Amino acid sequence: MSAGKRGDTLCFFINGKKVTEDHADPETMLLPFLREKLRLTGTKSGCGGGGCGACTVMVSRYQPATKTFTHFSANACLLPLCQLHGAAVTTVEGVGSTKTRIHPVQERIAKAHGSQCGFCTPGMVMSVYALLRNKPQPSMDDITQALAGNLCRCTGYRPIVDGCRTFCQEANCCQANGGANCCLNGNPDEPEDEKPRLFKEEDFLPLDPTQELIFPPELILMAETANPETLTFHGERVSWVSPTSLEELVQLKSKQPAAPLVMGNTNIGPDMKFKGVLHPLIISPSRVKELFEVSETPQGVWVGAGCSLSELRSLLEKLVPRFPEEKTELFRALNQQLGNLGNQQIRNVASLGGNIVSAYPNSDLNPVLAAGNCKVVVVSSGGRREVPLNQDFFIGFGKTVLKPEEIVVSVFIPFTRKGELVRAFRQAPRKEASFATVSTGMRVFFSEGSRVVQDVSLYYGGMGPTTVSAAKTCAAIVAKPWDDETLSKAYDILLDELVLPPSAPGGKVEFRRSLTLSLLFKFHLEVLQKLRETNVITDELPEKISPLPREIQPSLQEFQAVPKDQSAQDPVGRPVMHRSGVSHATGEAIYCDDIPKTDGELFLGLVTSSRAHAKITAVDVSRALQLPGVVDVVTAKDIPGKKFRPMFGYEEELMAETEVSCVGQIICAVVADSRAHAKRGAAAVKISYEDLPDPIFTVEDAIEKSSYYEPRRWIEQGNVTEAFEKVDQVYEGGMRMGGQEHFYMETQSMLVVPVGEEMEFNVYISTQWPTGIQEAVAETLGISSNRVTCHVKRVGGAFGGKVTKTGHLASITSVAALKTNRAVRCVLERGDDMLITGGRHPVLTKYKVGFMKDGRIVAVDIEFYANAGNTADESTLVAEKILLHMDNAYNIPNLRGHGAACRTNLPSNTAFRGFGVPQGLFLMENMVNDVAAVLGRPADEIREINMYKGPSVTHYKCEFSPDNLHRCWDECKLKCDYSSRRKAVDQFNQQSRWKKRGMSIIPIKYGIAFAEGFLNQAAALVHIYKDGSVLVTHGGTEMGQGIHTKMQQVASRELHIPTSKIYISETSTGTVPNTCPSAASYGTDANGMAVKNACEILYQRLEPMRKKDPKGCWESWVRAAFFEKISLSSTGYYRGPDLYMDWEKKEGRPYAYFTYGVSCSEVELDCLTGDYRTLRTDIMLDIGRSVNPSVDIGQIEGAFMQGLGLYTLEELKFSPSGLLYTRGPSQYKIPAVCDVPLQFNVYLLPDTDNPHAIYSSKGIGEPAVFLGSSVFFAIKDAVAAARSDSGLVGPFGLDSPATPERACLACSSTFTQKIATSEPGSFKPWALNL
Ligand SMILES: Cc1cc2nc3c(=O)[nH]c(=O)nc-3n(C[C@H](O)[C@H](O)[C@H](O)COP(=O)(O)OP(=O)(O)OC[C@H]3O[C@@H](n4cnc5c(N)ncnc54)[C@H](O)[C@@H]3O)c2cc1C
Ligand code: FES
Ligand code: FES
Repeated sequence: MSAGKRGDTLCFFINGKKVTEDHADPETMLLPFLREKLRLTGTKSGCGGGGCGACTVMVSRYQPATKTFTHFSANACLLPLCQLHGAAVTTVEGVGSTKTRIHPVQERIAKAHGSQCGFCTPGMVMSVYALLRNKPQPSMDDITQALAGNLCRCTGYRPIVDGCRTFCQEANCCQANGGANCCLNGNPDEPEDEKPRLFKEEDFLPLDPTQELIFPPELILMAETANPETLTFHGERVSWVSPTSLEELVQLKSKQPAAPLVMGNTNIGPDMKFKGVLHPLIISPSRVKELFEVSETPQGVWVGAGCSLSELRSLLEKLVPRFPEEKTELFRALNQQLGNLGNQQIRNVASLGGNIVSAYPNSDLNPVLAAGNCKVVVVSSGGRREVPLNQDFFIGFGKTVLKPEEIVVSVFIPFTRKGELVRAFRQAPRKEASFATVSTGMRVFFSEGSRVVQDVSLYYGGMGPTTVSAAKTCAAIVAKPWDDETLSKAYDILLDELVLPPSAPGGKVEFRRSLTLSLLFKFHLEVLQKLRETNVITDELPEKISPLPREIQPSLQEFQAVPKDQSAQDPVGRPVMHRSGVSHATGEAIYCDDIPKTDGELFLGLVTSSRAHAKITAVDVSRALQLPGVVDVVTAKDIPGKKFRPMFGYEEELMAETEVSCVGQIICAVVADSRAHAKRGAAAVKISYEDLPDPIFTVEDAIEKSSYYEPRRWIEQGNVTEAFEKVDQVYEGGMRMGGQEHFYMETQSMLVVPVGEEMEFNVYISTQWPTGIQEAVAETLGISSNRVTCHVKRVGGAFGGKVTKTGHLASITSVAALKTNRAVRCVLERGDDMLITGGRHPVLTKYKVGFMKDGRIVAVDIEFYANAGNTADESTLVAEKILLHMDNAYNIPNLRGHGAACRTNLPSNTAFRGFGVPQGLFLMENMVNDVAAVLGRPADEIREINMYKGPSVTHYKCEFSPDNLHRCWDECKLKCDYSSRRKAVDQFNQQSRWKKRGMSIIPIKYGIAFAEGFLNQAAALVHIYKDGSVLVTHGGTEMGQGIHTKMQQVASRELHIPTSKIYISETSTGTVPNTCPSAASYGTDANGMAVKNACEILYQRLEPMRKKDPKGCWESWVRAAFFEKISLSSTGYYRGPDLYMDWEKKEGRPYAYFTYGVSCSEVELDCLTGDYRTLRTDIMLDIGRSVNPSVDIGQIEGAFMQGLGLYTLEELKFSPSGLLYTRGPSQYKIPAVCDVPLQFNVYLLPDTDNPHAIYSSKGIGEPAVFLGSSVFFAIKDAVAAARSDSGLVGPFGLDSPATPERACLACSSTFTQKIATSEPGSFKPWALNL
């Protein structure tokens, strides 16, 4: 249907205001409509595919039949605008605002320090707000479920959960120090400053549900009185029709069988968005009431196919208590799956019919529905028929037996019979909000009083292109007694029946095959249990496997109070809320892409290489240029200045001209009048290639071909070769550690605006290094730096990923702005961001360690190979930092390390929080673990034996005192009750075969500041205005780490005024020039000193005013100074330490000081599935005297969780031809709320000083990432316990991340042992092993 055709008027409400659209485009989702059309930019875009929750809104509808309202959270990125007719939408702006009143949810998340960069915060607010609208007094479980689909990359979730916990009325306390009567607060009469708290719950606004926006009466009237008519909407390429009756729907579908029925749009939406599928007609059956009917019969319940999964869940929850247990086996099994399927936002819109018909290979529901003998009723112009959901229903990937014109009207879910048991199991890469790796539905039927199987069905998801039945296995079980013998035969048959080729899509072949067995084993145990409970059998039962614990426990955050004599106004050392916390929570905080569109603005879409190593033979842009809205294509030929960015001796091409060296390399860019047009234009550019031979992907390939970036470094202390001759034992090992995607919630974003005269440009950008961007743009355009002003208001997370790569993107965007002489915006979609910008370096290590029987490590020779990718970026520096930190906390007298950055044909890796340290330390700690395993001694003993003691010298000859490291170690052990919990863990393991616990304690010594001495400098500019208000600018960028909050605290102390008089607007190269990147955990140290310096100067200048008028006030002194012609503006400067590293002499002083810390974690591991839960983590850190304990604890918790993700969860997968598969939150799992340690305690070491940094504080942005490895080593400890049950002792390999797949296979259970491994080289694996 053609564009411009007149359709109906779409009518709905947003935040109480009526919206009517005469030209609603079916391809438009609510999210861009809110952000671009209505300028409601509080709702954020983090992924566009329902996987991150940043776009969460609340949708309310009126049900005329019941005269009730429903309120549910939904992802605006997947909500078609046309689906909203008659709905009321609430966005974060409608919940509360600083201009009217902020809502208690906003207040509590902000004041509990639940926002850092703040990009996820509006989504968090909306998820909890929607929950509270339905349940004003939720349980903790409700809260964690509501937040399960909201990702946060900064906070580690603990403070968000604690803020929301204050809405719970659960009797078991613990308000985690938040409540006045909190069980953790000890004596309530104790003076406040002796037991400081992060926030005071008693100050919070109460929740008053009567204050909420009412449902618009006009919509009630519309729903009750309107004679529903077919609605049609026509867009540029797609039309939408929404019939009102089943009859009409059937007619439409018979005429247009290829048109999809869009319900939740959670399958069709991502297909259209990410796979470029175009449906010229969409049918929306959401107003056909037959699709929503529910009816009970004596045999079961019919559920309308249009019901959402949440509606199905609550229906089943209501039905279960109404019937005897034996009748509701299937209902309960379905409910269990529903609880874990997707996330709340998805379940609230995704329909039952949509889930069935989508026929996902790893659907959670289909195996259970099939095992449970469910059926569907379908209608078409040919009539009505019932179709059983069985092995014949699912015929291929996304395909069922249904004819294209058939519509599923309802689904029959039968009651179970006496003697019938149904169970559902799933195993997923992440416990929640993740598609299953393998899902199952299993049913068995016994006649009364018998253990002989009458009927059995086993269905699996994840074992092929669609849901599969294990029919042969069932045949082998039927008519047999349910016992070990029958089942052990069944395992072998199952193994033969559900085969996956070694290169099966999705990989994890051995794991998936072993899961089929172990999940059947779980079913076996549950059936035995049931037979025993019903007295059918009296056998001694094996261990019952209960689910892993999931209740979040109270946590502790301990920090030292400020000195008693500190002025009440002085905020330094106090847990001051992030200065933008409330703006984050109200959605008022402005990020780069929230800046309003300027007149004539264009959007940039990137064209990237689809080959890893090839010659470009042709670039054909003709088709792109003909597309609507496309204005131009920018190539390297358009660059007037430098076509390359220099990088540590190498040059990086901005846009490839003749050759590409990785998939994802930028070749050219399309500029168009909208995002959609730019994207379509980019897709239409045709690149022709001629492949070049032998691309290099792995480090092993690189070593073989000597493919390195120079310089390669090595360092040695003592004489390693000689020392090896004298040691008692030598062990040689190695390990592979995977990379990591930054996954900052705000993707790379920038707006380049030509000012219009003298080649002047304003660049609004999300970066950690404004000066770097300024220089990159100037060099690319061939202009001087004084024509480019770079503005950074705030950054929605960066973690090292917004330094060099952002400069590259800004350069290209500026070329487009120059060429078109128009403002150009570039905001990467999540998939492109992940594809193009690289991440943390994967590292392979090989080591040889020599040690004595008493546990002393005497000699170590270690080689580190980092996979740098197709350009050098900062990789050689990363390799250097690995070497400089490899000793960690240990004094190894003979230590030699080699570090190399390998050049490969993968996207170039870059800086990432910790800059190599999380890799170097980890691999060293793994070696220490191996020594402990060889000696058969606890790993913590080996760590203690080898720790630096007394005045010490590093392997690069730098003196330091490890005293505080020891204090952290001892205090952490004490706080976490290490010895008795260790015993309890061992005891648990003796009694438990299939679940094991593990515990580990890991130290860190982390060098702060830049080893490149010139980077240790900072400047600030402070203005005092005549009204007494103060504007501070400094070189640091605010990216969630709270630097602006801390700078305000510094200025407040130095100027002796409250922080409310101080404002920080942005970081700009126009105010503070020549800044260094906000990195290396050095931002506060450097900029704090510069701000302090500027404020001291100004305070000094006001001295005569104060003397003259001692009774005056700040404002009067400022005014007087102006009239006295005293400058009220000053720069400040800090010249940091002259750090250096001399690689020739192998000595230096590359760090200003060390931050020390220790972390202890305990996990419980399900050895049958590899699933684990972190039961408890205790972190003790020496960060000197914290400038802001809430900000610092936030950095610690957030970094720890990022480390937990790095070492146990996050896996980047590349195809054998070098294409990144994992390009969004659906495939790449960062930690979610379900991953937070159930008890998460953080203690700041009291009474420590640091003469090297401002107010005796210490840098803390990066160190705690490594502490996440304590979870890895706890998992490894649990795996070791499992292995010892199988008679396997001593060191064993477990690469990082310790995903469920790796942990399960490493346990080497009877099930995993059954799976034959395919000979490497005999097949092409689905993914590269990096
Ligand atoms: C982020 C995310 C996470 C997810 N996680 C999981 C998970 O963990 N487990 C899992 O099982 N699923 C998961 N899903 C898949 C989700 O459950 C399905 O996409 C959803 O159930 C499909 O329903 P829908 O109403 O959104 O379908 P739509 O996208 O609206 O439609 C999908 C297809 O079904 C057809 N269809 C819809 N209704 C009917 C009908 N009545 N008759 C005939 N055909 C019909 C349409 O024609 C279309 O082809 C996830 C999806 C997303 C986006
Ligand atoms: S942007 Fe919608 S869920 Fe991520
Ligand atoms: S605060 Fe959650 S992503 Fe930054």
